[in-house]
Formats: sequence, structure tokens, C-alpha cells
Amino acid sequence: MNFSTESLSLRNLMQKLFDEEKEGTSWVTKFEHNFSRKFKSNYSIAVNSGTSGLHAALLAAGVGKNDEVIQPSITVIMDAYVTLHVGAKPVFVDVDRKTWNIDPKEIEKNITSKTKAIITVSLYGLPTNITEIMKIAKKHNLTVIDDSAETFLSSIDGELYSNQTDITVYSFERSKHMTSGSEGGMVTTNNEHFAERVRKFAGIGYRGLKASAGRTSLSSEIYQNPDYERFDEIGFNYRMNCITAAMGNAQLEVLNDLVKLRQEIGKEFLNAVRNCNWMTPQFIPDNVSHTFFTFAVKYEGFSVHKLSWKEFYQEYKRRGGDGFYACWKNPYMEPSLRKKTYGTQIWDKGLCPIAEDLQSKIMAFKTNYKQINLAKQKIKILSEMIDEIGR
Ligand SMILES: Cc1ncc(COP(=O)(O)O)c(C=O)c1O
Repeated sequence: MNFSTESLSLRNLMQKLFDEEKEGTSWVTKFEHNFSRKFKSNYSIAVNSGTSGLHAALLAAGVGKNDEVIQPSITVIMDAYVTLHVGAKPVFVDVDRKTWNIDPKEIEKNITSKTKAIITVSLYGLPTNITEIMKIAKKHNLTVIDDSAETFLSSIDGELYSNQTDITVYSFERSKHMTSGSEGGMVTTNNEHFAERVRKFAGIGYRGLKASAGRTSLSSEIYQNPDYERFDEIGFNYRMNCITAAMGNAQLEVLNDLVKLRQEIGKEFLNAVRNCNWMTPQFIPDNVSHTFFTFAVKYEGFSVHKLSWKEFYQEYKRRGGDGFYACWKNPYMEPSLRKKTYGTQIWDKGLCPIAEDLQSKIMAFKTNYKQINLAKQKIKILSEMIDEIGR
């Protein structure tokens, strides 16, 4: 058989990882342990994606049929999908006009006797107003799940923005601050009950699973016995594999640098759009650190200079800029949620006017450059273009 050098070295690396696993603590357990230390959480459970982590988190919180889950109207669709998969109803609420994150006042307005949980999302790396949201949740006895896929190591009042909610879910998908290859996720919590439920659900409901990693040690005579009952919960296989965990571990070691680089790039972008009255970035409250998963602006060049979103995009690319992203459609406007599958209702346009207006105007510029100089070259193109059009 003929192997290329790349595939041979990859095979050797994999063999080394497997051998190390056999000899000692598993890579997944090491990764969970190190993640807990870094993010100051009592429990971390590694999963195979952010989406599966969100699904497990909702189940751990006891969300089920006919419950309602409040969530923002600017976010990825996966927050709604997992809600529907547990039989609950997503309740989309509008966002704050300045930060674009879920608006605590809108949360409060939408609480009903069926509300069971709130999903918060730190959009593009800007932490939500979590202090206010936790006060509301406490008053109404709701579980808060923070979808932290887009923010790693951000802070509020100098304190790490993590574990301030009941359950936090991270994604290591390839575009995120840290990745574990191309897919992966982590669920963190300080609550033993939630941790055990997440681990069990994500681990096919094995009865021996507990909040912390590892299984209850049993003598082989017990588990090799035909009478042995292995499963006491219905779960899925959302487990992370050892190669993914080894890569995640390596990224965790350099996470500070990865976040710092995106923050430096974010600052360069902020300078480029300063005093431009038709490109408005997310408002960053003084006590908060933004981690710039992307750098996003609200583009109003059409009303000011009659230059449409698409025309700006084409011109920026023509000059050598990187193609930026638009905002995802508001989840309830996506075709997949406009069918009566899962017994969902059809939501009308106009449900969340601030979010819908923003959705059509957002430009999300890439911040995941490997070197600051390359980012600066691209940002210079943006800055010059803004100067030519007029700020
Ligand atoms: C805010 C947000 N939540 C959830 C996810 C889902 O994570 P994953 O792709 O790991 O399932 C993503 C990104 O992919 C995201 O950006």
C-alpha cells in the first residue's frame, strides 16, 4: 500500500494519541479538566459540536413539550432547532438597538407561565447584559443557557464572562476563537445536577456517568454479567473523540493569544470606521470587553450615499478587500422554520423590527487573520474607501 508523507505523519500522530490514551488519562478528560481551569467552572463536558451542547443543555434544564424558550432574534438558527427538538417553542424577542444583543426588557415582556428557559447569545463576541438577565431569570425561576459560541475570555467589570449563567455552551467549529479541528464543543456549569444530566444525555444515557469525567468504577464481574443494566436515561452519542480533544487542548494553551489578536484587529477596524456616520459598529459598554469573533457594522450607505450593501461589497472586493458576511436571516424568516413541521407556528415579518432592520444592514468583517499585518492591509482598503466616499 502507498501512503503519502502527509497521511503517514498523520497516521503516526494518531497512533501516538491512541497510545497515550491507553497509557493514562484520556485526551477528552484532560481537555475537560484544562477547560474547567481556564474558564473557572466546576464542570466541563466535551461534546462534538456547539449545537449538540445546546441540545444537551436544554434537556439538562428539563425543557420539554409545550415549554417556551426565549431567545434573541439575531442569532444562528441552531438555537431554535434545539428548542424544537426538545418539543418546546422558541420565543424570538427583539434585540437592543445599540449592542444588538438580546434586550432584557423584551425578555421580561415575553415571559409567560410556559417559559422555562432563556438562551442568551453574545453576538459577534460582545457579552450580553447578563447581570440584568440573571435578575429577571431569578425572579421568574428560569434557567439561563448562554450560547458562548462567539465569545471566549471576554469580561464584564474585569470578571471573566463565563459561568455567570446556569449553563454555558461553547463551539469549536473552525471559524471560532479556538477550534478543535473543524467541529467540537464544550458545556460548562457549576451545577452538579445539570452537569450529570448533560454528560448522561451526551453519553447515550450510560448509567455509570456522573457530573465529573470518568465512569463509576465497577468490577468486571458486574459489567460483564448478562444481567447488567447499562442505561438509565435516553441519550444521544454527542461525545467528543480523542483527536479532536488533543487539538482542542493545544488551542486552549494559546487561547489568550488567539483572543488578543482578534481584539487588536477589532480595534484597527474601530479606528477605520471612526466618525463615519453611515457605518455604525456595535456599541461596547465601558465595563465590557468585546472579543470580536467578527467586526460588524450597521451599514447605512444607501440612505446617505445611494450605495447599496451589494455595491459596497463588490467595490470593496474589487479593491482587494476580503468578502465580508451579511447577518444570518432572522431565524423565524428562514424557510426551514416557515413550515409547519414540529408543530411550529409561522412567525410574521415585523415580529422583531429592530433585529429585522439590522439583519438587512449588517456587514460582518472577518477578524480571524493569522497576522495583524495582513489584517491591517485589508482594513486600510476599507478606511481609504470610506474616506473617498466621505465619512
Ligand atoms: C452563536 C452560535 N451558536 C451556536 C453555533 C453552533 O455551533 P456548532 O457549529 O459547533 O454546532 C454557532 C456556530 O456555528 C454560533 O455562532
